Amino acid sequence: MSVYITTPIFYVNAQPHLGHAYTTIVADTMSRFWRLCGEDVRFQTGTDEHGDKIAQAAQDSDQSPKEFVDRISGMFRETWPILSIASDNFIRTTDKAHIKLVQTILQKIYDNDDFYFSEYSGLYCKGCERFMTEKELVDGKCPDHKTVPEEIAEQNYFFRMSKYQDWLINHIESNPEFITPARYKNEALSFLKERLEDLCISRPTSRLTWGIPLPFDDRFVTYVWFDALINYLTGIGYPDGPDFSRYWDSAEHVIAKDILKPHAIYWPTMLKAMGLAPYKRLHVHGFWNIDNAKMSKSLGNVIRPADLVEKFGTDTTRYFLLREMSFGLDASFSDTAVTTRRNSDLANDLGNLLSRSTTMLGKFAGARIPFPGEATAIDRELADAAVAMPADFSRHMKEWAFNRALQSVWELISRANKYIVATEPWSLAKDPANAQRLDTVLYHLFETLRLINLVLYPIMPETALKMATALGTDSQPDLNSQAKWGILEPGTAVNAGPPLFPRLDTEKKGGDKKKKEKAIRPIGKNKKKSRDQPGPADDGLITFDEFKRLDLRVGEIVAAEKIKKSDRLLKLTVKAPEERTIVAGIAEFYEPQDVVGRQVIIAANLKPVKLMGTTSHGMILAAKDGDRLVLSAISNPVQPGSEIS
Ligand code: MSP
Repeated sequence: MSVYITTPIFYVNAQPHLGHAYTTIVADTMSRFWRLCGEDVRFQTGTDEHGDKIAQAAQDSDQSPKEFVDRISGMFRETWPILSIASDNFIRTTDKAHIKLVQTILQKIYDNDDFYFSEYSGLYCKGCERFMTEKELVDGKCPDHKTVPEEIAEQNYFFRMSKYQDWLINHIESNPEFITPARYKNEALSFLKERLEDLCISRPTSRLTWGIPLPFDDRFVTYVWFDALINYLTGIGYPDGPDFSRYWDSAEHVIAKDILKPHAIYWPTMLKAMGLAPYKRLHVHGFWNIDNAKMSKSLGNVIRPADLVEKFGTDTTRYFLLREMSFGLDASFSDTAVTTRRNSDLANDLGNLLSRSTTMLGKFAGARIPFPGEATAIDRELADAAVAMPADFSRHMKEWAFNRALQSVWELISRANKYIVATEPWSLAKDPANAQRLDTVLYHLFETLRLINLVLYPIMPETALKMATALGTDSQPDLNSQAKWGILEPGTAVNAGPPLFPRLDTEKKGGDKKKKEKAIRPIGKNKKKSRDQPGPADDGLITFDEFKRLDLRVGEIVAAEKIKKSDRLLKLTVKAPEERTIVAGIAEFYEPQDVVGRQVIIAANLKPVKLMGTTSHGMILAAKDGDRLVLSAISNPVQPGSEIS
C-alpha cells in the first residue's frame, strides 16, 4: 500500500509556531507509523509564498518579496529537523516547477471553458485571502481575524465551481471517510447547503503583482489559494512523474479547521475540473490555545517550536502535543501541563520502568536477558496485555486518535510497573532457590519493554532509538513481524544508559536568572495578560495537574534507627517498592521498634536532602495535633509502592 501525507504549506508572513508544529508533527508521526507497518510512504510539507499577505509582510520588513520569502521559508525548513520531523519533500510555491504546473493547469481549465471573465464585488478578508459571504461574518467581522472585510469591486476570472456542487455533495455523502472527524464533514456539507458561488481565481496586477501570472492574460496573477492547493500535485510530479501514479490515489491531507473550506470545497472541485480523482482523505484538527486564550501575534502569546525544544526537548514536545489534544477538538497549551506530563508520564512511568528494569537486570542477571522458566498466571497476564497493546495502538493510530493510542501504551507501562511491585524481583534474588522464577520475571519485563519500545518509534523517534540501544534490540523496527511475544533473545546484553527523561523542575525559585529567562513565555510585547492570569498564589488553590505532580505512595518501614546526636531524627528504611532511606523528624514521638512494619504515606518525589549527614529520599506524612505527632496510615495492608491518588 502507498500512503501520501501532506501538511498545509504554511504562509511565510509569520515564523513557525506551535500550531504549524502540531500539524507537521502529526503528519510526521503518521508517516513514521505507516513506515513501521511496512508501507510505501511519501510525506510532504512546504511554504506558501505568494499573495497579498506575503507582499505586505515583505514590504513591512523592507525586503524584496523574494529575499523575504527565502528567509522565512528557510526558518520553516530549519525548524522541522529539531522536532525530528523528516519530510521527503519540502515544496515552495516559488519553485519553478510549481509555477509551470500552475500555469499548465490554468490553461487546461481555461481551454475547457471552466473559467469566465466577469465583474465582481464582494467582501474580502485579507487574513483569509478570500472573499467571504455575509453569512460567514460575525458582527460584520471575519470570525478568525476579527477584522471588517474590505469591499472590493473589480474585473476578474472566475472558476465555475458551482457546476460541481451536486457532484461534491454526492462524493462527500457517499464517502463518509473523505473528511474526518465527522463534525468537519458536516461543516463542509453545511457550506454546500447554500448555493455555491463561483470562485474568483485572479487578482489584477494593478493591485497585486506578487503571484503567478495567468498564462492567458498577463494583466492578472493567480489567486493564492488556486496556486497553493496545486502544491499537492507538483510535489509528486503531476502529470508525468512516476510518483504521481504511485501516490495520488492515497493522498491524505492534514489541516486545521481554519482552512476547511479551501480544502473541502475548492480543492475537490478544482481536481474534478482537471479530470482528476479527489484526494483520499482530509484530516482536520482543532486549534491549540495558550492558557485557554487564542494564540495570536496581537495577544503576544505565540509559542515558537525552537523554544519548546530548548526547554522540554524534542520528544517531550512531540509526546505532549500528541497525548494532550484529542484530534479534531481544540486543546490548551501551558508550560505547567507539559512539565506535568513530562514528569509523570515520561520520567515516572516510562523512564522509571526502564531504569528499574535495567538496574535489576544488572544486579540479578549480569545485565543479560535470562532464559525464562515456566510462566505463572501473573506472567501470562502481563504477556497477554503486552501483545494486545500494539494491536490497540495501531487501531487508534489508524483512526488518528493519538491520545487513545498513547493511553493504551501507558496502560501497559503502568501494568509493567505494578508487575514489578507484585513479583518483587529483589526479594526473589535473596534466595538462590528462586533463581528460575527471577529469570522468568525479568524476561517478561524485558519482552514487555521491547513491545513498548516498538510502538514508540513514530511518536518519539529519539527515545525509541535510545531504548533500543539500551535493550539491545533490532534497529530495524517492523510492526508486522515484531509485535508478538518471545522475540527477545536470551543472552542479549542490556545496557543501562542515562535516564531517558530526567525530571524537570517546575518552578525555579530566585537566583537562577538565566534559566528563568529561558522558560517558555509568550513572545511579543503584551506579556501582561498571562502574568495577570489567576494562579495558585491568588486563591491558594492548585489545579488537578499540579496535584498530580506529587508522587504520593504507600511506603513500608522495614528498618529504623536513631540518628546519633539528634533527638528528633530517625533514619528509616522504607520499601516503596524499592528500598530507600528517609530521615523523619519523629524520634520524640516514636521509638524505632514501634515503627518497623508500619505502612505509611510518603511523598516520593521530593528532592533528596542531607540531614545530619544522612541523605533523605522523600518524606513521611504525619498529622500534627497540638504537641502530638501521629504517623499517617493506610486502613488495610497494600503492596508497598502503591500509588495514592
Ligand atoms: N497557506 C495556507 C495553507 C495552504 S495549503 C494548500 C495557510 N497557511 S497558514 O500558515 O496560515 O497555516 C494554517 C495552518 O497552520 C492550520 O491549518 C494548521 O495546520 C496550522 N495552525 C495555525 N494555527 C494553529 C493553531 N493555533 N493550532 C493548531 N494548528 C494551527 O493557511
